[in-house]
Amino acid sequence: MRRLEAGSPSGIGLIIHAAVAHRPRSSRDSMHDDENVLCGTMQIGAVTVDPPVVMAPMAGVTDGPFLSVVSRFGVGMVTSEMMSAEGCRRKDPSAERILAVPARVSVPTAIQIFGAHPEVMGDAARAAEDRGAAVIDINAGCPVRKIVRQGAGAALLLDPDRLMRLVETVKRAVSIPVTVKTRLGWDKNTLNVLDVCRRLERAGADAVTVHARTARQIYSGQADWTWIGELKRELSIPVIGNGDVTSPSDFFRMKSQTGCDAVMIGRGALGNPWLFQVIAQLCRPQRAEAPRPQWEDFRRTVHELAEMFIQEKPKAIGALKKHLVWYTKGCPNASVWRYRLMSAPDGASLLNVFDAYVLELAASQADVLTCKVRDNGLAQEHL
Ligand SMILES: Cc1cc2nc3c(=O)[nH]c(=O)nc-3n(C[C@H](O)[C@H](O)[C@H](O)COP(=O)(O)O)c2cc1C
Repeated sequence: MRRLEAGSPSGIGLIIHAAVAHRPRSSRDSMHDDENVLCGTMQIGAVTVDPPVVMAPMAGVTDGPFLSVVSRFGVGMVTSEMMSAEGCRRKDPSAERILAVPARVSVPTAIQIFGAHPEVMGDAARAAEDRGAAVIDINAGCPVRKIVRQGAGAALLLDPDRLMRLVETVKRAVSIPVTVKTRLGWDKNTLNVLDVCRRLERAGADAVTVHARTARQIYSGQADWTWIGELKRELSIPVIGNGDVTSPSDFFRMKSQTGCDAVMIGRGALGNPWLFQVIAQLCRPQRAEAPRPQWEDFRRTVHELAEMFIQEKPKAIGALKKHLVWYTKGCPNASVWRYRLMSAPDGASLLNVFDAYVLELAASQADVLTCKVRDNGLAQEHL
């Protein structure tokens, strides 16, 4: 069986060399240009994140089935969908499903909570700790109107005093680390992330994650990573960078340009757990055990996800189609098969269509990693 050779010295050397070349001269001179600088573990309290790459929280996506699959591919930590603290207090089924995630995931799991009332947030955090969360993450960046209207998510950037009270109360409620995920500010006229994060550190936050856009931007424009570097220089607690990382070379570029302690990946990991596998392999070549994935592995991964999904959410066939379509991204002839997948009437026929596509892929010259892991041409030949 062919091995995943991403960890060959020439492979990682080429990617790291290219990443380091982007680094400003002053920091390039003061840092060791090797994988220890770019791939060192991140420590959040007693939680070790190894390698320093984190699955982002994504509502409607990072549920139990998704995270139990992703967690087997070398990611250092995963984050649940955001859980409503009020919903947790009411024992809503959606909150209960999120609380059940850590038990089925094989890496440290952060449960993300949102809300505006300190005591309710403290209770939700305690419930998450009781169910095995390794970290509590407070959502201070969600721009969705339904969340902001409650004074939660990105609205907390407009009310930092409340955010500090939330953090202090949640810290008192649990013994595990408490992190905060936020954005650069509400809009381009209120870029207060540096001030907010300095205060978060004083309030006891154990790490911060910054999606380098404003709330108003939602996903428009490009994430401005310079703010992540600024934060790293300002803070003593770990800084997790987030925004627009979709390849191993993006991972190394963000690490080297900003000095961040870990990189969080969201959209780039949809239908693509191999992105984590390649990053893990590049970071930890000495652990080079992962075989290079074949189309049968690709098929098995999707079936595993689909079976859990159908069992737990039998009515959510539309959401499952979305996952399968994400898996086809980057593969030859995907647009034709996407249409066929979207037309499938039920779970069984959806998987039949998917299997037929995999047969076509297996008979082609295509290779799983070449299709799935974009690398801006860098080091692709070494993977
Ligand atoms: C469908 C979707 C759902 C998301 N849900 C959440 C969420 O529940 N909590 C949160 O903090 N961020 C959420 N985000 C934002 C992501 O965590 C991440 O910050 C953003 O996608 C930028 O990272 P990326 O460029 O790697 O995707 C969501 C993003 C998407 C696309």
